[in-house]
Amino acid sequence: MLILGIESSCDETAAAVVEDGRRVRSSVVAGQQEIHEEYGGVVPELASRAHAERITGVVTSAIEKAGCGLDDLDAIAVGHRPGLIGALLVGVSAAKALAWSLDLPLVGVDHVRAHLWAGLLDSDVQLDEAFSALGLVISGGHTAMFRCDSPTKLTKLGGTIDDAVGEAYDKAAAILGLGHPGGPTIDRLAQEIDANDRAVELPVSRLGKESLDFSFSGLKTALLYEVRGVPGPGGVFERTNAALTPERKRDLAASFQRVASKAIVLKMERAIEAMDEKPRAIIVGGGVSANSRIRRELGELAVKHGLKLVLPEMRYCVDNAAMIAGLGHHRLGQGEHDDLTLRASPSMSPIKSGG
Ligand code: KG4
Ligand code: ZN
Repeated sequence: MLILGIESSCDETAAAVVEDGRRVRSSVVAGQQEIHEEYGGVVPELASRAHAERITGVVTSAIEKAGCGLDDLDAIAVGHRPGLIGALLVGVSAAKALAWSLDLPLVGVDHVRAHLWAGLLDSDVQLDEAFSALGLVISGGHTAMFRCDSPTKLTKLGGTIDDAVGEAYDKAAAILGLGHPGGPTIDRLAQEIDANDRAVELPVSRLGKESLDFSFSGLKTALLYEVRGVPGPGGVFERTNAALTPERKRDLAASFQRVASKAIVLKMERAIEAMDEKPRAIIVGGGVSANSRIRRELGELAVKHGLKLVLPEMRYCVDNAAMIAGLGHHRLGQGEHDDLTLRASPSMSPIKSGG
């Protein structure tokens, strides 16, 4: 079964054709970094406009690269929540137009759940090896842990009370005078041969003794004060970041990365210990799952607890439409699909919370 997936929730316009939910026949992602870079973050109105300009070309390219035609498709899946509403509407409208004109089922897919499908793409991990799982979504917009009884049945165990970890990476990069998005740059600097990840002691947020929530704003502020000094009366900083040498930037990036990773792994370990039933696997997704140190330390955690680790290939960590098509296939297989009344929504689809 061939499904066309469409994704436009934030600043990536993406389309993909996926066979049987797993085998990626094509995955086209048009990023908008160059549009948003000068603003230091995603500007919603500019994102919507760029999606509208690109969506037709991106879908056409995904179909061509898959070596199929529109007539070969069996369904259209679209990420319809959560995200920027104007951005989502572009993908949802395109998906509805295709589903209607081709007379195909339309499947709405939750973007956060789709990130947890990304590790199953181009992999032969069976669902009964992976579920139930402890799921971790770490991205620019989300940082949360879930007990996943199936790819769609999630119970939230904890989430960030302030910044998402990717957002903290991006803000840390801005503090260090690096470009946007900053996660990949900090990761690259932190891996440089002489990088000292103990150059400064930044705080690891633990919150309450048993808390499964995350907090990254204190880490970001500690880095800001380290770079620019503690602000005096009127909020004026002692200095700018202009005096940072390349070596100091590298060491601060490495110190930040050590603590960000530690904060995540610490809560994952707490969650494993708090779960009534031991999970079979740890499933991770989202842009920050591309991070070299977090991948390594989660690997060590999985080994320590005898769990399978399901990590996306690098190309499926950040936003893409293959994960949308993949989870769309699963939903369809469960007999679930939507119709042309499908709505875009800024919030995640309903979820249970608590252990
Ligand atoms: O999943 P994604 O594409 O978008 C959201 O759904 O938010 O994630 C984008 C985020 C950005 O914050 C980016 O800086 C971060 O993922 N990111 C990384 C790395 N690659 C991307 N963060 C840390 N290390 C990386 N290697
Ligand atoms: Zn995402």
